[in-house]
Amino acid sequence: MKALRRMLVWISGASAGIGAALVATLAGDAEIVDLSRRGGTPGTQHVAVDLADPASWPVVEADFRRRLAGFDGDTVVFIHNAATLSPLGPAGSTDSASYTRNVLLNSAAAQVLGDAFLRAVAGTDHDQHLIMLSSGAAHKPHEGESSYGAGKAAIDQWVRAVGLEQQRRHPGCRVLSIAPGSVDTAMQAELRAAADEAFPEASRFRDLEARGGLAKPEDVARTIWSLLDRDLPNGSVLHVKDLS
Ligand SMILES: NC(=O)c1ccc[n+]([C@@H]2O[C@H](COP(=O)([O-])OP(=O)(O)OC[C@H]3O[C@@H](n4cnc5c(N)ncnc54)[C@H](OP(=O)(O)O)[C@@H]3O)[C@@H](O)[C@H]2O)c1
Repeated sequence: MKALRRMLVWISGASAGIGAALVATLAGDAEIVDLSRRGGTPGTQHVAVDLADPASWPVVEADFRRRLAGFDGDTVVFIHNAATLSPLGPAGSTDSASYTRNVLLNSAAAQVLGDAFLRAVAGTDHDQHLIMLSSGAAHKPHEGESSYGAGKAAIDQWVRAVGLEQQRRHPGCRVLSIAPGSVDTAMQAELRAAADEAFPEASRFRDLEARGGLAKPEDVARTIWSLLDRDLPNGSVLHVKDLS
């Protein structure tokens, strides 16, 4: 990463998994804000939000604006990483309230918070980056995670369209999506623990773990940070395996 960069960084879901690893692997001078329910990751300022609740979205937008107003560094970054698998199971058979939360977090929050970030940074002259965490499930349908996969597909198409829009702005925000591959986090453990009726591919993930096939969150996090310095077209939809 470029030397002497002074950064203001928001990460949704920095309390665990890849989000916490992003915090642990960010070198240099950065104010890091964790947008999550639990918080507790050292080196972050915690804004306690349940991002599946639309009432939290204006709270995040206000935080974008307030911190940006007092920031005189070079680079601003929002990594939208928070997501949920719950409820795993066929559409039409899961709890409706839980299904609704899945749609709100995985699909709606990503777009609304992305829009809020772009509005907050428009007109500033910082180096601007918006990175969305996607998944292979955006492209390949998996029984049992319909709204998760649909949310990730929505993220990818949002990034493609907004990347084209931002190319017209000077300076524009660089908008990317990245699928991290299979990473050793609580989310992966949830897949392995799923009943085969709810998620028929659970056994594939059990085998993958048994073969040592899961990536370490810190390795994936370093690849994600490398995106800030890579020469990539705005709106690129990427997979970690194509980068490392
Ligand atoms: N791990 C993999 O193999 C894998 C594969 C493909 C894609 N991904 C993607 O990578 C990203 C990170 O996944 P992970 O494996 O690190 O997941 P994880 O270990 O389950 O962590 C999820 C993070 O999201 C936050 N989060 C969940 N629900 C939230 C809510 N309602 N409001 C606010 N924050 C919430 C959690 O924080 P709180 O609980 O504190 O709120 C936590 O920090 C996700 O976008 C996921 O879809 C992961």
